[in-house]
Amino acid sequence: MAKTVLVSGGAGFIGSHVAVELVQAGYEVVVADNFSNCDRTCFEGVQQILGRKLPLVEMDFCDAAAVERLFSDYRIDAVIHFAAYKAVGESVDEPLTYYRNNLGSFLTLLETATRHGGCNVLFSSSATVYGTPDKLPVTEDSPRQEATSPYGNTKRICEDILRDCVRTGKGIKGIALRYFNPIGAHPSALIGELPRGVPNNLVPFITQTAAGRREVLNIFGNDYPTPDGTCLRDFIDIVDLAKAHVCAVARMLDGKMADPYEVFNIGTGRPLSVMELVTAFEKVNHLKLNYRFVPRRPGDVVAIWADPSKANRELGWRAERDIEDTLKAAWAWEKRLNGIG
Ligand code: UFG
Repeated sequence: MAKTVLVSGGAGFIGSHVAVELVQAGYEVVVADNFSNCDRTCFEGVQQILGRKLPLVEMDFCDAAAVERLFSDYRIDAVIHFAAYKAVGESVDEPLTYYRNNLGSFLTLLETATRHGGCNVLFSSSATVYGTPDKLPVTEDSPRQEATSPYGNTKRICEDILRDCVRTGKGIKGIALRYFNPIGAHPSALIGELPRGVPNNLVPFITQTAAGRREVLNIFGNDYPTPDGTCLRDFIDIVDLAKAHVCAVARMLDGKMADPYEVFNIGTGRPLSVMELVTAFEKVNHLKLNYRFVPRRPGDVVAIWADPSKANRELGWRAERDIEDTLKAAWAWEKRLNGIG
């Protein structure tokens, strides 16, 4: 019988791509989302890609009774937990909202799972836990640093909560995936990133500028100590990232974990500068972007990229898509959203 994976926050950008890959790999998927930061576009896109309906539970993961119902109604073999707020700047203005929601939802999930005899839990963490690294690329053993935002701090604290829960031996097994910079969209252009309001992240800002929804792309800083003066990042294709979750779930369910709590970097291992990304976007999509250099954005790390060799080796996963295909997919998605031919 197919194993069932609960995807909390499964209607969002990363969750929807993960839901597709899980079903395509043969898992049953239950999506749970409160639609606080997304509409139904991606969930509908997922069903269109798969050609079938998926169970959707509209609920808040801070609502203990709702989480309890979920665990009573479904035989859940693994949970992938995405349900969280994720805007760095907003978290600085509203730390309590972020701590309440991001920690509260995770605690509720773990308490419920423990009561039900345990579960395999995959937590979506972030490279933000490495802060400004002393050595590059970063491995999973690179020291975590003081978070620069409450959002980043919730990622670090949730990693620790999961680790401590696993250590009690009460049936929780855990994997934290530390994402680098997820970008792009599904090749079908049926699901992709759908930020509310003005995008904070680079690629949605680029695509919205290309579509004429934003006048100009501000590139934050061209005086960094990097080859072209702009920041270096490890941009990871969203479908590649989604596939890493399938590998991690299989590792847990097949009893292949080397330790009941494990951490993996999910990145390409190849740094790309902001300017290189902008230039690549223009080239592959045959267009000119209106951009300008503006002062550095406070809190930005100069350079960070992954050493993904542990994930390559242990999960049998590696990033495969070319940046060109990723940027074509991002543009195809934005064009579809805007009805551009
Ligand atoms: N950038 C611009 N212009 C923009 C947006 C971004 O120049 O309009 C630059 C940034 O300054 C940065 C790079 O593009 O150098 C990437 O910025 P993103 O906001 O896309 O991504 P970050 O690396 O800042 O953010 C990522 C994750 C967050 C995480 C953060 C930690 O998206 O979830 O790393 O630093 F919290």
